[in-house]
Amino acid sequence: VSKPFHAGDRVLFIDHKERRYLVTLEEKGEFHSHAGFVAHANVIGHAEGTTVESTKGAKYVVMRPTLEDFVLEMPRGAQVIYPKDLAPIAMLADIGPGHLVFESGIGSGAMSMTMLRAGARIVGYELREDFASRAKKNVASFLGEEATERFEVHVRDSYAGIELPGQGRFDRAVLDLPEPWQVVPHLASVMQAGGVMVAYTPSITQAVKVREALLGNRGEWVAMRTLEVLHRTWHIEGESVRPDHRMVAHTGFLTTARLLTAR
Ligand SMILES: C[S@@+](CC[C@H](N)C(=O)[O-])C[C@H]1O[C@@H](n2cnc3c(N)ncnc32)[C@H](O)[C@@H]1O
Repeated sequence: VSKPFHAGDRVLFIDHKERRYLVTLEEKGEFHSHAGFVAHANVIGHAEGTTVESTKGAKYVVMRPTLEDFVLEMPRGAQVIYPKDLAPIAMLADIGPGHLVFESGIGSGAMSMTMLRAGARIVGYELREDFASRAKKNVASFLGEEATERFEVHVRDSYAGIELPGQGRFDRAVLDLPEPWQVVPHLASVMQAGGVMVAYTPSITQAVKVREALLGNRGEWVAMRTLEVLHRTWHIEGESVRPDHRMVAHTGFLTTARLLTAR
């Protein structure tokens, strides 16, 4: 059973057009929109799914955000990987409880949050200090302090090399940065045999370069695949049942491989 809302909770106000607004509840806070405002006090103490009305009569359903909601609404520095790709990456990389994951870059932390929620421990390399701290704030805000203890971020250039972590070799590696082929050659020195890597690249020429890097030391990597995830939503209303006219035709390519022999 979900707990009643209290001050400090992050909630979504959802209007009749399904527009969403991420809000942190405060005892004396107000949520303002074109339709007047709603005092947070009208939400605090109520159960999830409560409906509130603004001073100008607009109705909002209030719910806690899911991870998908949060990733789409959270404060961002860098471009995030969208939920459509986050879940398949977590599956392809076989992210699970206790896995030690090397992640680079960290950006706004959308991928990190997905893996932390699946129970992973992350050592991340991120070039920009401001992005690293934004990501840590996002993780703490949605997943809580416990998750931040499994999230170690270094302001470092992963093209220059990867240090063996204190916790032992990495089980998994997830790359989302402009030139992942510059990171691939370092992975065999810090990952376990049998480890899985996934690189997300917006362009197919980047994916090709990743594949070439994986082939670089012949026989080191196996089970290479490159794929993309197409996501087509449907319009379902009475007799009108058909694909929506618009779809996001492209986000990125996912390239995965397994390490055969560690160096
Ligand atoms: C597209 S963003 C990552 C977004 C992240 N996957 C997410 O879902 O929120 C790419 C990040 O890689 C970082 N980056 C670029 N080159 C890097 C490098 N050589 N080493 C470490 N990080 C790097 C950038 O600063 C940027 O934050």
